[in-house]
Amino acid sequence: MITDYIEAAAAPQKNDGRIKLHGPEAFAGMHKAGALVADCLDAVGDVVRPGVATEAVDRFVYEFARDHGAMPATLGYKGYAKSSCVSINHVVCHGIPSEKPLKDGDIVNIDVTLIVDGWHGDSSRMYGVGNVKRAAERLMEVTHESLMRGIAVIRPGATTGDLGHAIQSYAESQRCSVVRDFCGHGLGRLFHDVPNILHYGNPGEGVELKPGMIFTVEPMINLGRPGVKVLADGWTAVTRDRSLSAQFEHSVGVTEDGHEIFTLPRAER
Ligand code: MF3
Ligand code: CO
Ligand code: CO
Repeated sequence: MITDYIEAAAAPQKNDGRIKLHGPEAFAGMHKAGALVADCLDAVGDVVRPGVATEAVDRFVYEFARDHGAMPATLGYKGYAKSSCVSINHVVCHGIPSEKPLKDGDIVNIDVTLIVDGWHGDSSRMYGVGNVKRAAERLMEVTHESLMRGIAVIRPGATTGDLGHAIQSYAESQRCSVVRDFCGHGLGRLFHDVPNILHYGNPGEGVELKPGMIFTVEPMINLGRPGVKVLADGWTAVTRDRSLSAQFEHSVGVTEDGHEIFTLPRAER
């Protein structure tokens, strides 16, 4: 595979297939955007309870962004009209906020991307609604651990295949499966950029990681089979076998000696 890298400062602000290597100014911008989206995901936890409509969650995100001088990146993105994605139970990702209420025992992913001074902070977490069954709780734990094991291998010289392998081997060891149809992505001043970050793969394959790369890791892990389909609304992705699905997402940067996570919860900073 031929991989082209380019100093981000010299690159056109579009996806031209070359992987941007960002400098300190970008890392500072991502730090600020990432912290704000993490604060938003910390705060939205108080909104999640049985009976609350998912559009109330979305309204909270919109108002949080507005009150902090940020823009939700999804608003108007490719025709998407909400400030968040809210994906319940067997919804894998891109659930559209609606009047549908959360109910006791649901597990829900809330995915928020905020633009701060032009930089995109993209993160998502799982939330349990009321009393959650043990199988669902375990899926959320396995998915979070999958994300963190993927991130743990990020350093210059490692490859995207190393990252995907770390996620896949752990998730499958826990009798869960990795969704293949969606992946992480480069980001920065752009929302979705190269490279694609697959959440499965083989050691040594894929793209070599270099200092200055900025991307998301956002594994979707299912209790059943990995297959998904997209509903007629053009967005909502669900598991084909209707098994439960979970996802966590962080925005990260590759540093000289490892990595930096921009979207850590305040309690982990
Ligand atoms: N935030 C999602 C991601 O992690 C993308 C959502 S795009 C939308 O990349 F249009 F569905 F909102
Ligand atoms: Co993302
Ligand atoms: Co996201």
